[in-house]
Amino acid sequence: MKKAIIIGATSGIGKSLCELLIQQGYLVGITGRRIDLLQSIQLQHPDTVYCQPMDVQDLSTLVAKCDQLVSQLGGMDLLVISSGVGEINKELDFEVENNTIRTNVQGFTAVADWGMNYFKKQGVGHLVNFSSIAGLRGNGDAPAYFASKAFQINYLEGLRLNAYKSGLTIYVTDVRPGFVDTAMALGDGLFWVAPVEKAAKQIFTAMQRKKKVVYISKRWASIGYALKVIPYRFLKWF
Ligand SMILES: NC(=O)c1ccc[n+]([C@@H]2O[C@H](COP(=O)([O-])OP(=O)(O)OC[C@H]3O[C@@H](n4cnc5c(N)ncnc54)[C@H](OP(=O)(O)O)[C@@H]3O)[C@@H](O)[C@H]2O)c1
Repeated sequence: MKKAIIIGATSGIGKSLCELLIQQGYLVGITGRRIDLLQSIQLQHPDTVYCQPMDVQDLSTLVAKCDQLVSQLGGMDLLVISSGVGEINKELDFEVENNTIRTNVQGFTAVADWGMNYFKKQGVGHLVNFSSIAGLRGNGDAPAYFASKAFQINYLEGLRLNAYKSGLTIYVTDVRPGFVDTAMALGDGLFWVAPVEKAAKQIFTAMQRKKKVVYISKRWASIGYALKVIPYRFLKWF
């Protein structure tokens, strides 16, 4: 039985992917801060889901909690990082920016390093993270969110190169959603919003194919390519 851990599975894309992995016969370990939501998922799937309450900002307990979840599962083949926050912060309130940095940069890095080191010891494994199309350029309304996703994109490339140099069979998949219909996708001007179940299915297919980078939904790839080349003066419109 394949074993997966999803960091941030209490809602949104992580929760939907958890349900899909269960259908596909995986044993799944889930984390998040909202204990009631973790428990309700676990109660629905008592034989296939283990849960571990965890705040990725709490670096003093993170590794021990991840280790504990792996022990409960009896191993780990797949690690999915779905934990993330993002807030509009035009006023540049540092507390808001710091919350994003501590979750999307610091917490993400701590989990990713823990997972990669586990896979390196094992000689095989698959790390998946949900970055964002936002990571391709800067943004004036939510600077830390966009910059944190740029960090993730580059860090994942670094981890993939690190795995390649070690000669081990470790895959790293960078999932870059556009808009997915979750609590995070609030606001005006949203378009091409993918239903969360559709997003989870596309992510699962990309994982099976061991894709390095995937846009969700697929048509966001065209926006991704455009964003990489669009001159700065056009960004001022957004
Ligand atoms: N939805 C979109 O349109 C979209 C677009 C691009 C990228 N993404 C990325 O996709 C990922 C998943 O987002 P989503 O749309 O599914 O939003 P969501 O429903 O808000 O899910 C976010 C998950 O992250 C967890 N989380 C947040 N802060 C955490 C912390 N400090 N410690 C542990 N877990 C934490 C939450 O669990 P708890 O609150 O229980 O801790 C929740 O399970 C995020 O990284 C997001 O940036 C989403």
